[in-house]
Amino acid sequence: MDLGLSGKTAIITGGSKGIGRAAALRFVQEGASVLICARGQDALEETAGAARRAAEGARVVTVPADLTRPDDVRRVVAEGVRTLGRVDILVNNAGSARPGEFLKVPDEAWQEDFQLKFFGYVRMAREVMPHMARERSGVIVNVIGTGGLRPSAGYMVGGAANAALNHFTKALAEEGSKHGVRVVGINPGPILTERLQLFTERSAGGRNLDEVYARMTPLKRPGQPEEVGDLIAFLSSPRAAFIHGANITIDGGANPGLIG
Ligand SMILES: NC(=O)c1ccc[n+]([C@@H]2O[C@H](COP(=O)([O-])OP(=O)(O)OC[C@H]3O[C@@H](n4cnc5c(N)ncnc54)[C@H](OP(=O)(O)O)[C@@H]3O)[C@@H](O)[C@H]2O)c1
Repeated sequence: MDLGLSGKTAIITGGSKGIGRAAALRFVQEGASVLICARGQDALEETAGAARRAAEGARVVTVPADLTRPDDVRRVVAEGVRTLGRVDILVNNAGSARPGEFLKVPDEAWQEDFQLKFFGYVRMAREVMPHMARERSGVIVNVIGTGGLRPSAGYMVGGAANAALNHFTKALAEEGSKHGVRVVGINPGPILTERLQLFTERSAGGRNLDEVYARMTPLKRPGQPEEVGDLIAFLSSPRAAFIHGANITIDGGANPGLIG
């Protein structure tokens, strides 16, 4: 199936590793140009190299940025418009939120994690929307997380940020409708990225890691970043033109429920 992404331009936040990296590689293989941003320059350059190898002649722009900073958000979008000509697609993906016991997580941790995972997404969307509105076209994909669908005492910060982003995605879709901008959310379950490996190794407590991974989903494995990257590419594409204001779960069946 041709996704129809050839010639499109996309900003992918957190595009140097994990899910964002997989999405960037899929986009260039489909003929799109990408701007990837993250804090670390080395990983950005490594991913840009991999993207150019995956798709000869691919246009890949790297911008080091810390998206907890409003100035960096503005700079990333301005660079996207300057280098790519316009921004057809925004993938809000850079985020992480720490687990922890409620009584041991201080204000600073809540604020820091919300700065990236919630306000980073809100600010990027607010910065990019006027450019998309001018074209009367665009797609915003928010990569959120199933922690927002299943409240748990040990993952309150991430869960609360994700729940807020599920709400934000639907509200932003209503706003986007006025400007020709489509908005969708994705709720990944456990996906085998560096981040999941780190959490799992820290919390395994001597248990066999393969068994821990197998217990994560009814499919007896975590997802692969490429599986989420492919979903992001599809949802960003004209093939998904009627999917708007929806939050879509990709979790190997780990969160059965009527929503998502
Ligand atoms: N993996 C999972 O199981 C899972 C499950 C549910 C939801 N998610 C969500 O999916 C998204 C991607 O997760 P992932 O597992 O692919 O993460 P990852 O492998 O840790 O990659 C995170 C990416 O974000 C960048 N980043 C981190 N902090 C940043 C900051 N302050 N400013 C700019 N970029 C920053 C990282 O690069 P630098 O560190 O160099 O900045 C990296 O490129 C996140 O929003 C996460 O919450 C993941």
